[in-house]
Amino acid sequence: MAEPRYLIDTHREFIERDGIPIVESFGIDLLHLGVEPWPRLGEVKGAYALTSGRGDFIDLYVLEIPPAGKTEPQKHLFEEVVYVLDGRGSTTIDGHSFEWGPRSLFALPLNAQYQHFNSSGQRPARLAAVTNLPLVLNAFHNEDFVFNNSFVFHERHGKYDGDGTFISVRPGRHMWETNFVPDLSSFKLYQWDARGAGSSNIMFVLANGTMHAHMSEMPVGTYKKAHRHGPDFHIFAVTGQGYSLYWYEHDRDFERFDWQHGAVFAPADRMFHQHFNTSPEPARYLAIAFGGLRYPFAEDKKKTFMGMDVSVKDGGRQIEYEDQDSRIHRIYREELARHGLEPRMAQLARAAAR
Ligand SMILES: [Fe+2]
Repeated sequence: MAEPRYLIDTHREFIERDGIPIVESFGIDLLHLGVEPWPRLGEVKGAYALTSGRGDFIDLYVLEIPPAGKTEPQKHLFEEVVYVLDGRGSTTIDGHSFEWGPRSLFALPLNAQYQHFNSSGQRPARLAAVTNLPLVLNAFHNEDFVFNNSFVFHERHGKYDGDGTFISVRPGRHMWETNFVPDLSSFKLYQWDARGAGSSNIMFVLANGTMHAHMSEMPVGTYKKAHRHGPDFHIFAVTGQGYSLYWYEHDRDFERFDWQHGAVFAPADRMFHQHFNTSPEPARYLAIAFGGLRYPFAEDKKKTFMGMDVSVKDGGRQIEYEDQDSRIHRIYREELARHGLEPRMAQLARAAAR
């Protein structure tokens, strides 16, 4: 008799069969993560980078395409959001083609056929992709259904020419609908004072999908307010450098993660987290998660998108500056001094109030 099988994790079994490294940590340096040959995707290399705060629905991998190399054509019944870490190349999706470079963002629409190409003959290209493969594979546990499915989702295609549609909602919830953003470092953001001094952001609707992405910026000399929510928001540093503190309610001390381009981390479920810019340039970060503002999927995402900038004292999920632990501002002043910078929180708050 066969051994009884239980506690089956179809996704875990699947990624282990890929034979590439599987790294698990709170935060990971994706630019320097070791990669190994990944024959399932072609003559390329890869590694899974699983954050401890990833939750149940999504995973993350790094793909390295060798100089002048390409992936095999892929097609599957799960969604992917791709962030370009390094190098230049192009991607073809169901006949549409576009060129990407460092800090490009795009989505691979559900069950569309696509192929990535490295356009440099000298340098490898490195992409990071967040996918909802864990959700899909654990729900259907049938690889043939997920990877050899002929259904066409006509409503998932959007713009690949770098343009998009701005959808005005209200601060913190304005959306940009597209399938491709050429360069996050220069993308226009919209003021969002409720999240912190001088704060700005944009939400992305990519390929009309369920995956979420947004980008936020902290001006020089500022930090965001702390808040908390469910798991799976993967934070990618885009410009500048800084650090984030994270802790659970009632913890005595903070933990800290330092970041710059290439770093990713994901605060775990209900973990307070707060982001600090210590660089002489504005610090931008990209967040990718499962369940977006248009299709939140989970009740907790709805609450997050409505309550992320509302004080915990008013039933929301944010700690206002005046309610935060006094050590937080002191640590920040010391960090800035180390970098020869001054806080600019007060000036920016005054400017916002005018
Ligand atoms: Fe957050």
